[in-house]
Amino acid sequence: MARRENRYVCQACGATAPRWSGKCESCGAWNTIVEEAAPELAPHAAKRGAGKSSRLEFVGLAGASAPAPRRVSGIAEFDRVCGGGLVPGSAVLVGGDPGIGKSTLLLQVTAALSAATPVAYISGEEAIDQIRMRAARLGLARADVALASATNLRDILASLDAAGGPTLAVIDSIQTMYLDTLDSAPGTVAQVRACAGELIRLAKRRGTTILLVGHVTKEGMIAGPRVLEHMVDTVLYFEGERGHQFRILRSVKNRFGPTDEIGVFEMTDAGLVEVPNPSALFLAERRGEVSGAAVFAGMEGTRPVLVEIQALVAPSGFGTPRRAVVGWDSGRLAMVLAVLETRCGLVFGSSDVYLNVAGGLRIGEPAADLAVAAALVSSLTDHPTPPASVIFGEIGLSGEIRAVGQMDARLKEATKLGFSRALCPRRRRPQGTQAKGESQGERVGAIDVSEIALLSDLVEMFGPPAARNGRRERSDLKMA
Ligand code: TYD
Ligand code: MG
Repeated sequence: MARRENRYVCQACGATAPRWSGKCESCGAWNTIVEEAAPELAPHAAKRGAGKSSRLEFVGLAGASAPAPRRVSGIAEFDRVCGGGLVPGSAVLVGGDPGIGKSTLLLQVTAALSAATPVAYISGEEAIDQIRMRAARLGLARADVALASATNLRDILASLDAAGGPTLAVIDSIQTMYLDTLDSAPGTVAQVRACAGELIRLAKRRGTTILLVGHVTKEGMIAGPRVLEHMVDTVLYFEGERGHQFRILRSVKNRFGPTDEIGVFEMTDAGLVEVPNPSALFLAERRGEVSGAAVFAGMEGTRPVLVEIQALVAPSGFGTPRRAVVGWDSGRLAMVLAVLETRCGLVFGSSDVYLNVAGGLRIGEPAADLAVAAALVSSLTDHPTPPASVIFGEIGLSGEIRAVGQMDARLKEATKLGFSRALCPRRRRPQGTQAKGESQGERVGAIDVSEIALLSDLVEMFGPPAARNGRRERSDLKMA
């Protein structure tokens, strides 16, 4: 009989390696490789050849299929991110940093659903008393939720599979659960995958909706939710800055709905509260006419969201200037700076540059380029961006401003929030009517649209070139 050899598994991405090393070759993470017992060589392999094969019944693409029924919680921000409610028989992974509010959110969701369907909340992390205390704090103590504290998956499966078992169950968290048939410790890739696999099988077989909590882990000893993404139907990430009260639930995969949809919540003393109008919230603490701030009209899934982008360009005290970014991609910032330097003649080389997306939102859209550039130029020249303006557009390497999707939705949201001007790419018009190469203005609804063709046109808005060096002259004075 072949000897079972141990293997080395990266707890961040699940890749296996023949020997231990400090860095995972597959995902580049450090210190995430852990020795695990190899799974038994497929015990059914011998039997497999013995079975008879049968032909598949192919069907056509056309044909009636009923839309998936939904379990709607009534927490609109959550339901929308799920694609209109939870689908029976589906497995949903809710990932996020420890302490971000996953347990709070799912307790609120289960309590909301408990009126319509039997629900269970199984925690491997907290004792019953702790969960009861939280429920009392959230004002949910009377909700009909079946509560259990358990980590042995065999017991959990038996309970969920029993007659009259729940139609929806939360497993908080998958990293605390274990199957006693495996040698590995709870939280390892092998355990996490095997436990999730069993739960998903149960979900499909019984039509139970399974919500799995997965902590995002920085250290390698515990498997992160990434190793489960391909197994589940829906992946939601709960994000937010610890210091901020805003929390964003984002769908990154959904077999039953759109992705990139977000739900916005505010963490309060009484749990998570929905934020139906996030733009107003993200702009709430905005100070009027200050330099280094620009309002970006972004899209998060189907929803337009306005956020303030703040930049600070400060003289550097060190040989190598600092570039620090919160809420945006640092590679993208480097690109925008390079285009501003080479195409518009601005000099950032000897300055520290800080960029921040106010409110704790993380932006992934290239459409934010132009707003970032405006905030940078505004801070460098110490001139505020044009008043009551929203800005969006993608910047190309030659300094051209490229069109972005859903311009009308962005403009509509800006109008709704009282903005009177938009700086944006040229809109696509029917052929022949397009003016070539130059920036131009137009009125769309209640908003003045200034179409920007080149990044240098935006830079011109901040006054004559002399003013642009104001900040540098002042810092020179200070040094003298
Ligand atoms: P929790 O849901 O336990 O996070 P996770 O399950 O993702 O680890 O949330 C914990 C944090 O939320 C904790 O720091 C306290 C805070 N919190 C509130 O601010 N208000 C509340 O009503 C509750 C229940 C928690
Ligand atoms: Mg928790």
